[in-house]
Amino acid sequence: MAVRSASEGILSDDNSSKRDELIELLKRSYWMEIETVMSYIANSINPDGVRAQEIIESLQADVQEELGHAQQFASRIKQLYGVVPGSLDFKAEQSYLQPPEHQTDIVHVIKGVIEAETGAIEHYNRIIEFTDGLDYVTQDMVIAILRDEEAHRRLFEGYLREYEVEGLA
Ligand SMILES: [Fe+2]
Ligand SMILES: [Fe+2]
Repeated sequence: MAVRSASEGILSDDNSSKRDELIELLKRSYWMEIETVMSYIANSINPDGVRAQEIIESLQADVQEELGHAQQFASRIKQLYGVVPGSLDFKAEQSYLQPPEHQTDIVHVIKGVIEAETGAIEHYNRIIEFTDGLDYVTQDMVIAILRDEEAHRRLFEGYLREYEVEGLA
């Protein structure tokens, strides 16, 4: 007896082209998370100065969270019959999170983190819309990840506010 495909949802044969499109969106998410892990490792170690400590600790914790997000996106790619891409497919995009000229330039790091989180928030909102009525499992996963990114962004906006008040940002 032939194995039957699901007749409803993202795993149905009717939705195979949408599934391919979704896998591409998830691959992009995966790479965004991987690059964020790289950028946050560097920026949790490079900064100098008393005021850098809060940022360092915060980014150290975020590295683990972003890595967890990457693993979730990778698992979902496989569940949808895709293949998690190899490292040669990686293309770096986070120009704004490169090390600053001076390692005491914390504002540069804070603004870079806000930019990275904003990009993630925009892309994940797009996936949530794309999956509506199509793939509630991916949608549920991405909503939970979006919640983390919104919290990260808000935390770093708070850090930036302190520098703005002092006229340093
Ligand atoms: Fe993330
Ligand atoms: Fe994040």
